[in-house]
Amino acid sequence: MTDANKEMPKYLQESEVSQECKDWIATLPMEKGWLASHLHQYQGFWHITRQLQGVLSCQKHFNALHSDILIVTSPKSGTTWLKAWTFALLNRKKYPKMFQNHPLLTENPHSLVPFLELDFYKDKDLVPDLSMISSPRLFSTHLPYVSLPKSVMNTYCKIVYLCRNPKDAFISLWHFTNKLKTEGTCANSLEDSFEKFCNGVSLCGPFWDHVLGYWKKSLEQSEKIIFMRYEEMKKNPSTVLKELARFIGCPFSKEEEDEGVVDDILKLCSFKNLSNLEVNKKGKLPSGEEHRAFFRCGEIGDSKNYLTAEMIEQLDAITEKKLAQHGLRF
Ligand code: A3P
Repeated sequence: MTDANKEMPKYLQESEVSQECKDWIATLPMEKGWLASHLHQYQGFWHITRQLQGVLSCQKHFNALHSDILIVTSPKSGTTWLKAWTFALLNRKKYPKMFQNHPLLTENPHSLVPFLELDFYKDKDLVPDLSMISSPRLFSTHLPYVSLPKSVMNTYCKIVYLCRNPKDAFISLWHFTNKLKTEGTCANSLEDSFEKFCNGVSLCGPFWDHVLGYWKKSLEQSEKIIFMRYEEMKKNPSTVLKELARFIGCPFSKEEEDEGVVDDILKLCSFKNLSNLEVNKKGKLPSGEEHRAFFRCGEIGDSKNYLTAEMIEQLDAITEKKLAQHGLRF
């Protein structure tokens, strides 16, 4: 490893990618990255170099079980929040005293619900043994629908998809990538990033194709895929949380509702609570991202504080053109 590589956070390093994989990646269409040096187009979507090895490995090796639950998002759509909700729902019997000893008080949601391609399957020589994880197993991914491991579709494994208004998702991504830039590197300008995003060149983008893949499938297979929206989670949290609980097979009982368990979970997972925890103010993921980078303002419509009227018009027009004909509007 070179000295420069040693100082680089892991999320920017590419030394763990095998030469074989690098050679294959070199054959793919390539664009300049937002954070890591490059993005590569695979199965119609853009991925960072480090992630692609994991994508291939989990496509090859991940065996979904009927009881699995897979959280899927396009980056910056509220993944951290949804991970917290789903983890809290599934584990509420185990940790009834939510504000005393709950893992979400001491661990970041991304550590509790790791990504398939970025965490479990990231190592070139190691296929993880996931058989010891108790059922239902909870995983997450940013993979587009077309790239999901086949076993996900060939089993009754459930998919929880979360999307967000593209304007807010874009601004969130722009802030996030700039926050993770190392000292001495130039920030991404809003204009350049905007152009890339509109052209579909963003992490796991095109954003609209990602959303559309899951939207269409959720209409065809509503028992398998639930399509959720960040904005709905903000506006009607208890309704959406209860719907999610039913979908993943752990509905709230009347007693739980009377005892205030729904509100407790919402409070535990709220932006205010999670972002103020010591672990999320100070900690880092094993891949080097600071936990606090995942908590910015957590509001609907913050993008209007950054985008010009023309930019808003342009993004709205793309969204309308790509999604409206499929009955999807933001
Ligand atoms: P903003 O940058 O708009 O604030 P992801 O988790 O997919 O990376 O998305 C991050 C976005 O979700 C950020 O949006 C972040 O602030 C917001 N977020 C994180 N935790 C949240 C929570 N508990 N409630 C609401 N929003 C949250």
